[in-house]
Amino acid sequence: MKKFGKLTKYSVNGNRIDLSFENGTGRIEILTDRIINVFSPFVSEEHRSKAIEGNKAKKPPFTCSKEGAPLVVKTDYLTVKVFTDFKVDIYRYDGKTLCRDYRGKMSAVPRFSPTHPMYDKNARPEWDKTVNVYKALSKGECLMGLGDRAGFIDKKGYEYRMWNRDTTDVHDEQMPELYKSIPFMMSKKPGGTVYGIFFDNTYRSTFNMGKDDPSYMWYGADDGNLDYYFIGGDTLPDIVKGYCYLTGTAPLPQRWTLGYQQSRWGYMDDADIRYVAENMRKCGIPCDAIHCDIEYMEYYKDFTWDKNRFPDPKKTPSDIKKMGFKTVTIIDPAIKLEKNYPVYEEGLARGCFAKDANGLPYVNACWPGDALFPDFGHPETQKWWGENIERHLSVGVDAIWNDMNEPASFKGELPGNVVFHDGRRETNHAEIHNVYGHFMDKATYNAIKKATGKRPFVITRACYAGTQKYATAWTGDNRSVWTHLRTAIPQLCTLGMCGMTFVGTDIGGFIQDTTPELLTRWVEAACFSPLFRNHCDKWGRRQEPWMFGEETTAIYRKFVKLRYAFIPYIYDLFFEGEKTGLGVMRPLALHYENDPKALRCNTEFLAGENLLVAPVVEPGVVERLVYLPKGDWYDVNTGKKIRGGKSIIASAPLDVLPMYAKAGSIFPNYEEMNYVGEKKLDKLILKVYRGDGEYIHYEDNGEDFAYRQGEYNKYRFTVSEDGTFKGKIVHDGYSKKYKTFIIEFEGKTYKVKAAKEFEIKLK
Ligand code: GLC
Repeated sequence: MKKFGKLTKYSVNGNRIDLSFENGTGRIEILTDRIINVFSPFVSEEHRSKAIEGNKAKKPPFTCSKEGAPLVVKTDYLTVKVFTDFKVDIYRYDGKTLCRDYRGKMSAVPRFSPTHPMYDKNARPEWDKTVNVYKALSKGECLMGLGDRAGFIDKKGYEYRMWNRDTTDVHDEQMPELYKSIPFMMSKKPGGTVYGIFFDNTYRSTFNMGKDDPSYMWYGADDGNLDYYFIGGDTLPDIVKGYCYLTGTAPLPQRWTLGYQQSRWGYMDDADIRYVAENMRKCGIPCDAIHCDIEYMEYYKDFTWDKNRFPDPKKTPSDIKKMGFKTVTIIDPAIKLEKNYPVYEEGLARGCFAKDANGLPYVNACWPGDALFPDFGHPETQKWWGENIERHLSVGVDAIWNDMNEPASFKGELPGNVVFHDGRRETNHAEIHNVYGHFMDKATYNAIKKATGKRPFVITRACYAGTQKYATAWTGDNRSVWTHLRTAIPQLCTLGMCGMTFVGTDIGGFIQDTTPELLTRWVEAACFSPLFRNHCDKWGRRQEPWMFGEETTAIYRKFVKLRYAFIPYIYDLFFEGEKTGLGVMRPLALHYENDPKALRCNTEFLAGENLLVAPVVEPGVVERLVYLPKGDWYDVNTGKKIRGGKSIIASAPLDVLPMYAKAGSIFPNYEEMNYVGEKKLDKLILKVYRGDGEYIHYEDNGEDFAYRQGEYNKYRFTVSEDGTFKGKIVHDGYSKKYKTFIIEFEGKTYKVKAAKEFEIKLK
């Protein structure tokens, strides 16, 4: 633990306060009135952030004074007090404590008694890392975030590590590491204040969320700078927005990417892909994309097609395109070491691979056997990768699925000293590991954007903070077990609160054999997960929706259709999300943070702010407890009005997904379709629930970046308790407009010819 000693000197330089301590230096940087950076140059004077792009300093007014101890820095919102040993306490404008450094005794969860032979009294305690921060916690404080964790919304009492890991074990709340590392956490004190902290350090690190002692939490990293952002705000959504202000938001995706996608590791050839495409249409389950897993390649070599299985690689995507399907192909980072394989030869010649300590290309292994790892942080590698992606897309591929990018390595973890770049300088695997996938996604995103001009669809397994700008993610290799279904809800909601809003799980489970009941409940639970894909491995039983008989197929069809109906709603959430950072799947905690019960709801979620979804996540269950926060709700399945602020028992036979709409809700829906783009989108259905409410809806071409130049329409719809419904275009920038609005209200349907402004009385 670094001892900074007394603060001896300080100076204000622009938005920075430079601090000299007896034993080291530090600084406080004011970015906005609510966001400050706490920094000490353990290894470099500059930040070296991989997550934050561009200058985020807004230069708000602030004061800095020191009369005796401590040093006091004040913005309009925050008061930051800096003490001896670089202890930092932060208060809100009204004097309320937001977060104080912990100064008490540290203890560790006991493992061995002092008489045990393995007890080592000289061992360096876990919490004493090279970089470390200890924050005091209050009783009942709820700790959220940390990205891809298979734990609960409230992570207090657990310890998680940041080190991207390829793992096929059951992902549960005790799993310390998963595929993604997002070192961002949020706190909510019972009935009180909120804050967020983003520890921007990519080295192996640990978050102990009050596990050792509920009165403090600690964060520690093996290397790098002491570099964290403190984010203040009045509410949890403010904190999420603050974090996304720093690290970016998920851009609006192409509309078709919100459709259903069918995948399996084990679509072996052209015939298999056609079989799936034809059956999807035959069984009348809407579907927009088919995924080609590694079997399409020749010996798992990136950017190749196995000519025996795909005699004419262009024909498969082109033929299924005529049926309305997009083709998504997997790409792994590891490049087969094979003489005369052009991708390998060219990458080698251009110096695009990571090197060992002797300057030779570093060799490990993945699916193709011995393989090299592209150094994605090197500008030449980004270029070379982009050219390969561009060539690969020209076959007719629509999107890229980046897998194994932790990076997974079959001959043991890459040594820490393998040489990589970070976009600016040479560094090593210890620093790059957690951003390896991030750099691969960035290279892929930029290449697709350049080649197509469309909004790139890149799916990734590994992430770091900020990856939301470049990729959609799935939660990796889950299993066909109920635990994984239950876990999916807090996991996806947490990812969403950490900026990664475009996420999903493998529906049905990836490893092991799913069951008809599990698959059914999974598709119900996944209906509002932005990435909506069924995927499984090649050793498990096939789990396409028609594999389990008519009852399962029928229920599956019902929910995929429900999803397609709600695509405009989900799309609107993305349109807004690009500005705010808020996601589609949200924990109740996000909008009801002062309700202690809502704060700890792990098996229900909000889709947007107004739709509460409570899937069944246990076998054999046909009714479940649903907590409805304060307010009036409507049971979407029955139309019945229910007063919230209590738990109810929802009836949920196998074909029912309990859903509740907030009074005054308006949800835009599409008519039935087999895939996005099949029909002209000239009709919009508006599902309206009595109450006072407003809804903003967006309409655009769903494909490219023209919306950023104003080519979109924005509608404002309102409903009031007495049934008055109004619609108005408030931004008119896209010429292909809806012709008709169909309003559904209390069992009746009202047809309205679209006009710039209209009003109708719903009775
Ligand atoms: C990894 C991926 C999985 C994929 C498989 C084969 O396990 O997580 O989704 O199917 O590799 O490519």
